[in-house]
Amino acid sequence: MSDVDADRRSGAASDDTAAQFVDLHDVEAAAAGRLDEMTLGYYSGGAGEERTLRANLTAWGELDLWYRTLVDVAHRSTATSVLGCDLPVPILVAPTALHRLAHPDGELATARACSQAGVPMVVSSLSSTLLEDICAATTAPVLLQLYIGAHRAVTEALVARAEAAGCVGVQLTVDTPIWGDRHRERRTGFHLPDGIDVVNLTRHAGLTRQSGPAGAPADRSSGTGGIGDVLGWTVSPSVTWDDLAWLCDLTPLPVLTKGVVRPDDARRALAAGAAGVVVSNHGGRQLDGGPATARALGPVAAAVRAADPAATVLVDGGVRSGADVIRALALGADAVQLGRPVLWGLAVGGQDGVAQVLDLIATDVDRSMALTGCASLGDVTADLLHPG
Ligand code: FNR
Ligand code: LAC
Repeated sequence: MSDVDADRRSGAASDDTAAQFVDLHDVEAAAAGRLDEMTLGYYSGGAGEERTLRANLTAWGELDLWYRTLVDVAHRSTATSVLGCDLPVPILVAPTALHRLAHPDGELATARACSQAGVPMVVSSLSSTLLEDICAATTAPVLLQLYIGAHRAVTEALVARAEAAGCVGVQLTVDTPIWGDRHRERRTGFHLPDGIDVVNLTRHAGLTRQSGPAGAPADRSSGTGGIGDVLGWTVSPSVTWDDLAWLCDLTPLPVLTKGVVRPDDARRALAAGAAGVVVSNHGGRQLDGGPATARALGPVAAAVRAADPAATVLVDGGVRSGADVIRALALGADAVQLGRPVLWGLAVGGQDGVAQVLDLIATDVDRSMALTGCASLGDVTADLLHPG
């Protein structure tokens, strides 16, 4: 890595908290100018030809919002609740790995920005900061994202740590039997730089970053470069619905299955004990060819509501504006998750950068409510997409 790259990655002297970004695309452009090639490729990339990645972004815009007129929207509330937690806006930070690639403060900066905004943070089990330290850095609700890897004892220990640290829920990622083929990672030679590691697994569970559990079966995502080579051992191709039921029995915390796009999978998740689902295709990073989440959400939300009206439905993938959030809620989601935009904010300004991202989208949700004729989120109903 060149000195310039090292300086870029460290974030040193590059925080620009005075920058006034108009929208999340501005933050992305600024981040792209600061991140080293490997980190930018890892964060921005999708699998294969990136069709699903692109579809996530465009499909929201294909849904017209049939706004109502002459509604008194002088007093508006963007507040809601998810899993018993009060949220100021229907937004959570999606789990993304390795925040210290973007900024030296890594997940701690993200967690502090979540405190400022009151926005829940879903912490990746592949975070580059210990779960306990992240939880201690924020007053916002924290959920743990989990992969069930080859080592069941590691999963059990992580869940127990999440409970002890005060997490309010778990998201089990179910779209990752093996790692997707991310061409950008292969081209840029994705690796973990010295000093950055998946510490929740390596430091606490005594695993090494390369080998993971001794004798773990290699899969065909290994040997190609990219994350499958570096962290292949953190997921397992033999995980099934029985494992979801096992996890739901293991913990009193509500479990959401993250990565569902099919109504039948959503019904099976609830039957196995899940408290709900996150409609997601992993930001287009797993199966290239999967549906845009804007298209998957409606049928999945309908199936979940029919099975259990109290179950939780979240969605992520390509949400970039307040109008997208309104579209997601009109399709039946309780709230949305933001992935990459948070990483862009982190790259441009650490805690302040993430805070700016959360503020931009929260302000835009409020604006979009006014312009669609909604004073509260209860007014965001399906007729905004299909007027009578
Ligand atoms: C992710 N995502 C992810 N998901 C997960 O369950 N565990 C993880 O560790 C990660 N890590 C991760 C790293 C990076 C760099 C990205 C971009 C994404 C997927 C993430 O939670 C979410 O599903 C998508 O990022 C949402 O799409 P947008 O908002 O990025 O378009
Ligand atoms: C990714 C993982 C870590 O998408 O979920 O890179």
